[in-house]
Amino acid sequence: MFREGLLQGKRILVTGGGTGLGKEIAERYLQLGAEVWIAGRRGAVLQESAASLMKTHGGKVGTHAVDIRDAQAVDAMVQRIWDEAGPLTGLVNNAAGNFISPTKDLTPNGFNAIAGIVFHGSFYVTHAVGRRWIAGGHRGSVISILTTWVHTGSPYVVPSAMSKAGLHVMTKSLAVEWGRYGIRLNAIAPGAFPTEGAAKRLRPEGRFEDAAAGNPMRRIGRMPELQNLATFLMADGCEWLSGETIAVDGAGYLANGGSFTDLDGLSDADWERMRGQIRAQNEKDRVGRGA
Ligand code: HXC
Repeated sequence: MFREGLLQGKRILVTGGGTGLGKEIAERYLQLGAEVWIAGRRGAVLQESAASLMKTHGGKVGTHAVDIRDAQAVDAMVQRIWDEAGPLTGLVNNAAGNFISPTKDLTPNGFNAIAGIVFHGSFYVTHAVGRRWIAGGHRGSVISILTTWVHTGSPYVVPSAMSKAGLHVMTKSLAVEWGRYGIRLNAIAPGAFPTEGAAKRLRPEGRFEDAAAGNPMRRIGRMPELQNLATFLMADGCEWLSGETIAVDGAGYLANGGSFTDLDGLSDADWERMRGQIRAQNEKDRVGRGA
């Protein structure tokens, strides 16, 4: 879909880039010529991923072990990248934590574990990178990986939904505040793109694939679809695109977040009958108004 070398000259940090969606995005950026940095809590996992990505695609993948809940450690990581490699050109806020739980059963620590990673941590990274871009007069691009719950809310994952909604608003707010520096912020809200980390915490007994049945396109996401959107948003050529959260979910949230999804199964005859009922009601109302 994209020409070879599209991202040559870019230096991009992907948080949570050692596994899951982050690794997939990092891989596509590397393949298209970017220098990639991946950050995560487990140094050995990062190193293993970096080695395998470089073996497959060549290029350079830097690693930095960090818990993004620690603002000082985040700042030290970003400073190290600036010192050792040079200014970043892009950031992907992908690191996240989540598990399903009835909200009444959550402890404050459980809430904080998720909000600390998603809400606080993603801000710390964005802030550490953004303020260096502004100080150095560099342009930059931030993509945050959110969910469609930022629009609909979602039961049983309330700390994640709340935190991601905060990043949705950060994206809009900083797109305006930092636009004059040539810094743009966008977000991706993926539907079901199964990864091990998400499946084990969000569908511990079921299958992610089950989400296909309720999707208008009757399927789950294919990883290249997410990689392609992340590439488009990061590449040159769409610099005026900023402040947007783009869903890639086969219109899933538009169908399932609405109130009338259950009408999906109605036949033409059902609709005809209901149209008659509605028209009859309209007619009755008109008579009542003396119209
Ligand atoms: C209730 C739980 C729990 C559970 C943990 N806790 N799991 N409470 N139900 N299933 C509580 C613990 O009891 C503890 O509270 C607190 O959370 C912290 O737990 P720790 O295990 O000590 O935390 P930590 O090791 O820091 O791990 C953070 C984590 C973990 C968020 C809990 O899941 C994690 O590391 N996740 C990273 C990867 C991940 O989650 N990937 C999925 C992302 S999917 P107490 O009170 O007992 O001390 C995603 C959106 C996908 O983001 C969208 C798909 C459409």
